[in-house]
Amino acid sequence: MSILFSEDQKTVHIRNASVSYVMEVVDGKYLVHRYFGKAIRAYRGCGEPHYFKRGYNTEHDCSIPNVSFDDFPFEYPIRGNGDFRIPAFAVTQESGVEFTELSFRSWKVLKGKPEIPKLPATFAGKAEAETLEIICEDPAAGIRVYLYYSVFEEKGIIARHQRVENTGNQIVSLQNVQSLSLELPARDYDFLSLYGTHAKEGNISRFSIHHGIQRIESVRGSSSPQHQPFFALMQPQTTENSGEVYGIHFIYSGNFLAQAEADQFGNVRAQIGIHPDTFCWRLAPGEVFDTPEAILNYSSQGLNGMSRNFHWLYQYHLMPDRFQGRNRPILLNSWEAMYYDVNLEKLEEQAELAKKLGVELFVLDDGWFRADNTSRTSMGDWKCNEKKLPGGIQKAAELIHGKGLQFGLWFEPEAICKSSELYQQHPDWALQVPGYQMTEGRHEYLLDLSRQEVREYLLSVLDFYLKDGTIDYVKWDMNRPLTDVNSMSLVREKKGEISHRYVLGLYEILERMTRKYPQVLIEGCSSGGARFDPGMLYYVAQNWASDNTDAFDRVQIQSGFSLIYPPIAIGSHVSITPNHQTGRSTSLNTRYQVSRLFNLGYELDLTKCTEEERSEIAGQIAEHKKERSWLQKAEFYRNETPNENYVSWLSTGKDKEECLVLIFQKFFNPLYAHGRFCLNGLNPECDYLETFSGKIYGGDELMEIGVSVPLIKEDFHVFTFHFVRESHREQSEKWY
Ligand code: DGJ
Repeated sequence: MSILFSEDQKTVHIRNASVSYVMEVVDGKYLVHRYFGKAIRAYRGCGEPHYFKRGYNTEHDCSIPNVSFDDFPFEYPIRGNGDFRIPAFAVTQESGVEFTELSFRSWKVLKGKPEIPKLPATFAGKAEAETLEIICEDPAAGIRVYLYYSVFEEKGIIARHQRVENTGNQIVSLQNVQSLSLELPARDYDFLSLYGTHAKEGNISRFSIHHGIQRIESVRGSSSPQHQPFFALMQPQTTENSGEVYGIHFIYSGNFLAQAEADQFGNVRAQIGIHPDTFCWRLAPGEVFDTPEAILNYSSQGLNGMSRNFHWLYQYHLMPDRFQGRNRPILLNSWEAMYYDVNLEKLEEQAELAKKLGVELFVLDDGWFRADNTSRTSMGDWKCNEKKLPGGIQKAAELIHGKGLQFGLWFEPEAICKSSELYQQHPDWALQVPGYQMTEGRHEYLLDLSRQEVREYLLSVLDFYLKDGTIDYVKWDMNRPLTDVNSMSLVREKKGEISHRYVLGLYEILERMTRKYPQVLIEGCSSGGARFDPGMLYYVAQNWASDNTDAFDRVQIQSGFSLIYPPIAIGSHVSITPNHQTGRSTSLNTRYQVSRLFNLGYELDLTKCTEEERSEIAGQIAEHKKERSWLQKAEFYRNETPNENYVSWLSTGKDKEECLVLIFQKFFNPLYAHGRFCLNGLNPECDYLETFSGKIYGGDELMEIGVSVPLIKEDFHVFTFHFVRESHREQSEKWY
């Protein structure tokens, strides 16, 4: 890993073993992009563009002959200077002038990686990353922009963010401050992203980009199930295992814009950042504004290569490191067993059975504070309904602990309903636009997290429940998009800040809560995966991926999320069949296999299971306890499949000593009788024992020829293979 300046200080080359990122300063003032991609040894000016004098164009104070700013690879582009493509930065000066011009001033290298105040971001020790800080300035507007590029030692990752400082004596309004802008040379690219809806998140969309702008976004107040704040640009021939990919992800939980523009010549500009349509930030003299962080991920080994980079980054440099070495508890969640209708007897029954089966954590979901068994009441007051749970949460926790289980509790802190005491006392604490009717979502309004007193109230509620240490786990839910996005406490000039201030308020609460109660494991949730983003993962360590627990749909949802998130971050529960969301039936084994490589839990009424089912569950849990120490840290791959009737996943230990392979046959279909599944992530030099069949195969054989499966007369069938490296066998025989 190194950040090297050329002798004449005109270029800088950020580099590690996998990637290179090169910029140049032209004429001492224009900061331009030269290269991002596979690592090169040195940059000596190769590939500099030749400009051609054209009509209907602009001329510039620049030494490059015939240069056109509309074709110039600006590193951090603005609008109004002859570059008519998507800008990364826009301000309005106090005079009303909507213009700024950023000229290069200086650059320097920082050891490690700076924190971003008030925002979640990847972290690294001094030896693990290096950061380039570049200063650009507009003295007339009194604006200084600091551009940050952190390169990690180990993988093809560059983390980006900017700081804007008002160095003048006028107030400026930031209209657009993107976290990342990237110039890519003209060629064919595919645009890949994850789209979805409630209960069907993480679907892959892939298309070839065309001239013009293609974009995905959220203006729903949170990152949303409709689009993940992620996209990848790649070669049309890129597959799971080969080809180049430029992955871009945003560490943020609010409105975002992610876009790629193919210009008139086919050059591509890619950007991600806070959505400018719902953002305007007033910056007074002396103040600074920090953007959230964006991740740039380069892989020359296809989508699996990109995923491995993201998984590594998030698991070791973003998610709370205090949970890294610890086994995640196998939980039983009450939601699909009881919904709102909870009581002590049910808790006791479930906990007793759960303990017998090997479950470690009981999570009491929604319902415990509701006046009735619907979502219509009580939200915001957080008083346990003692008619349902006599003795309150304290008693419930004692009961669960008494059965030898950890206790987890559900909250939806951001919501408030009209009938709550809180709303009666503080109607102005809800987001609202005076004079207009407020919009309900699941019978709720949202609290205005930009207000300090609201944040203090929520922290006091959490304190009340967490302070005596009886709660081991919190499920933090949020069940509606933001509407009426106005704060009763923000002055007129700051109204445009509310969407971002809401997210900053949420982060402040999570930061203070996790600092005070570091031992409490938090699961993020937002009607499933509606706020599943790396911003939340900085605090929550695992996220409920979808309200859809159907095994068949989960294969697609988890495959999609696995593009970016490590399996341990993705909550996956075995539920009842027929499935509550889809009515589909799958075998208990299929449901378990679909969850097994992810963050395994159960969400069903154990009293309704047969003895055989309970004993099967006990077997699954016992098996998972043996394998989770390596599985929860494993490398995850999506294997290529011979046709669309199959999906295949593989998890392999870090040293490739052990490996689980799952092959899902979606439907019985005689057309798909043959096919081979080449495996990823093994050591080709080693031999592996397949423990179910007792057969030994070479790693190279498994990777090049692959395994095969028979056609089974059953829909949603799963085939499982377990491989142990021959030299590791003795050790693992103790386990299997
Ligand atoms: C939505 C979540 O995704 C569910 O798991 C459950 O917690 C409900 N909310 C409770 O209201």
